[in-house]
Amino acid sequence: MSASRRAFLAGTGLLALAAATPALGQPVIPPDEQARPLLHLWGRRRTSLDGPWRYILDPFDAGKRGNNQRRTFWRDFRPGDTGPLVEYSWDDSPQMLLPSDWNSVADQLLWYNGPVYFRRTFTVTDAPGEQRFLCFDAVNYHATVWLDGEKIGEHEGGFTPFAFYVTDRLSPGEHAVTVCADNRHHREAVPTDYTDWQNYGGVTRSVWIASVPMTRIDDYVVRLVGERVEVGVELAGPASSNAPVSVSLGKLRLRGITDANGQAVLSARRPRALALWSPENPTLHDIEVRGGGDLLRDRVGLRTVAVDGDQILLNGAPVWLRGISLHEEPIGPVGTRRMSEADARRLLTEAKALGCNFVRLAHYPHSEVTLRLADELGMLVWAEVPVYWEHIAYRSAHTLALATSMLADMIRRDRNRASIILWSVANETPVEEARTRFLRALIAEARALDPTRLITAALNKNVDVGGAAEGQSHFVVEDPLGADLDVIAVNQYEAWYSARRPDQLDQVRFSSKFAKPLIFSEFGADARYGTRGLKEHLWTEEYQAWLYAETLKLVDRTPGCAGISPWLLKDFRSPRRWHGKHQEFWNRKGLIAETGERKLAWGVLHDYYARRAGAT
Ligand code: GCU
Repeated sequence: MSASRRAFLAGTGLLALAAATPALGQPVIPPDEQARPLLHLWGRRRTSLDGPWRYILDPFDAGKRGNNQRRTFWRDFRPGDTGPLVEYSWDDSPQMLLPSDWNSVADQLLWYNGPVYFRRTFTVTDAPGEQRFLCFDAVNYHATVWLDGEKIGEHEGGFTPFAFYVTDRLSPGEHAVTVCADNRHHREAVPTDYTDWQNYGGVTRSVWIASVPMTRIDDYVVRLVGERVEVGVELAGPASSNAPVSVSLGKLRLRGITDANGQAVLSARRPRALALWSPENPTLHDIEVRGGGDLLRDRVGLRTVAVDGDQILLNGAPVWLRGISLHEEPIGPVGTRRMSEADARRLLTEAKALGCNFVRLAHYPHSEVTLRLADELGMLVWAEVPVYWEHIAYRSAHTLALATSMLADMIRRDRNRASIILWSVANETPVEEARTRFLRALIAEARALDPTRLITAALNKNVDVGGAAEGQSHFVVEDPLGADLDVIAVNQYEAWYSARRPDQLDQVRFSSKFAKPLIFSEFGADARYGTRGLKEHLWTEEYQAWLYAETLKLVDRTPGCAGISPWLLKDFRSPRRWHGKHQEFWNRKGLIAETGERKLAWGVLHDYYARRAGAT
């Protein structure tokens, strides 16, 4: 175990567990040996490796069971090569357009779980004095990468970027990159293999070769703290310490010198010309960060977010979150993880049409494209890591370190997006000591990386203390984790996963033990678009609409409710939705069908949000 991992684990009090917890399932990578992301690729000089890649399925994982020529897929054997028979040929393998999951590409891959090897060649020209990185925006779930037949590293985690330093491997000429993407989740994975969404496998987001100067801007963060603009800049490389850095933000100019660690914090009072960002006025400003011979350009918004009692404040004024939850799956007849900018724009535009000022991007970090569109379109965002349900190995040191690195990579990639106001560390996790200790470690990491945003988690509804009369329920949110959160969120499915029907929701009330804002982060019901009937009939659009209408009354009488993000905008693929007439492996709680048709409940929520927006 490396010293840095030992130090990290000692800090979490889990060091003793690290030795005790056997690495189960496929070999796991110590998180500090994971490939680390090269961040802020946007605006950098980079070459896309998206496009046709050859692929080979390896259902029995032969490639990892010992090396012999017949299955070292990361090597290419040309006709005429001497040696034993080789039973694969890259030139004769099928092609897949990447980025994409494989599940949506071919019927025989819809439910395939296992390793798939991808390969393509590319050509580089000489670039003296530049550093080069091979960058992946995401591979689900586990990636092993070779360059010209040499292994260059691995990464675990399906929704965050990672990169490999390849400068000394990219001589001018042609090169071959091979990726083994394996979508299986071992017992200590994050999430585990048990989720309510399709486990789309593959190189699901873009691949790049990025070029940076010898001394680069490794990270920067823009914050509005009160009325002061703060810009943190971190250089990496031989000339990173005591180096000049400068920032232009609109007409504001900031200068400084990095310290011995290559870091500098520049700040000034916000000029009134630098207008604030909000959903109503999503003003973005051009920013240029210079340092070490590097230049990064971006567009960022300035805003503050805070809590005051049970209210959420945006730029000092209360905001009520008119939200909807989203999986990262485009509108279309085939469920897929392949999301283009146009796909993401269509989803967020549909949320805008619904009257939303807020989206919960469930249950994992979404594409950077989506976050940038939320900035542009003016949509507040809840972003989260997939610490999902009770199956997470809350006692595993590996799992904690992995979840921590996922959270850190998400925050460092996205903390310059004004749209994000909430970091969520969990969804529907059990109230027990190991889980609470695990999540408190994540919360500490989030606050260290980003003291400006609010921390939340989607909790299970807790204790029913009973109502004033027989048959009534009073659900009190009293999860001990609430003490560590800024915003309390609760998922509740009364009148769907309960014996009650919507006309009995007047028997139900919610309250929170914490004097903090409360969000209903999920509620909803399945209804296949076009299944019509009496509202009393489950699975009909009428029932879903009825549940929304009655639940919204419950929302309005819940003290401290600061917003909702009902479950969810669009029907999505799930291996846990078996009903042969109503679901066919689709979770149909969407307000729109997978092909975009709006259901009756869409109108109910739309009208409610119109009244809410009119009230502000
Ligand atoms: C859970 C979970 C979702 C799931 C939803 C449902 O609360 O958070 O991921 O899809 O309920 O049952 O539809």
